[in-house]
Amino acid sequence: MDNRIEEVLDIYHEMIETERNSPCEMPPGGRDGGQDQRLRAVGPETGQFINILARSLKTPIILELGTSFGYSGIWLAEAARASGGRLITMEMHDYKSAYARDMAVKAGLADHIEFKVGDAVQMIAALSQSIDFVLVDLWKDLYLPCLEAFYPKLNPGAIIVADNMLRPGGDDVRRYGEAIRAKPGISSVVLPVGNGLEVSRFDRG
Ligand SMILES: C[S@@+](CC[C@H](N)C(=O)[O-])C[C@H]1O[C@@H](n2cnc3c(N)ncnc32)[C@H](O)[C@@H]1O
Repeated sequence: MDNRIEEVLDIYHEMIETERNSPCEMPPGGRDGGQDQRLRAVGPETGQFINILARSLKTPIILELGTSFGYSGIWLAEAARASGGRLITMEMHDYKSAYARDMAVKAGLADHIEFKVGDAVQMIAALSQSIDFVLVDLWKDLYLPCLEAFYPKLNPGAIIVADNMLRPGGDDVRRYGEAIRAKPGISSVVLPVGNGLEVSRFDRG
């Protein structure tokens, strides 16, 4: 990691620490209402892990579902730059995506990222590229519809990482785990990294 990236990660780590020590209240209007300011970031252990995985691929197209304020995207964009690939990151809220873009500029990584704003399920369907790496980290009831949308676009050897399998866990992520394991060509395991990751690899069956 170069200095500019380290400095940006330090800013995020302070924000993550502050968030950890403040009560987890729903913003006015529910999870998508008002201006939800929570990062809900994957955290440094998962950040490092997805960076290691994505860096091991050659010129990968990396898809991130749930940009939020851009923390996990910094780790993925660094991997994209190191491996000659590209990050496409999707977020429903423009104010979150705009913040993420500013931080990516600060880190010197913005040229390696395409920021897309809107509903991820629809935007995945409209993607022209095929995909080598996916981070699934948006609202949990969207894990399954997203899987159905990105699965036909995976290249052989693609890696898929889904967050929050163990914490908070729950029915939505359990259903995602069952569904991805039932897909042809998928090998998959849950790892106790961060909040628990379903790590899957796709090979044509
Ligand atoms: C858990 S946060 C992502 C955290 C981020 N990966 C990180 O580690 O910094 C989930 C994000 O998914 C976004 N989201 C929820 N539904 C979405 C949808 N249909 N399309 C795109 N983004 C969505 C939310 O607005 C929220 O910012």
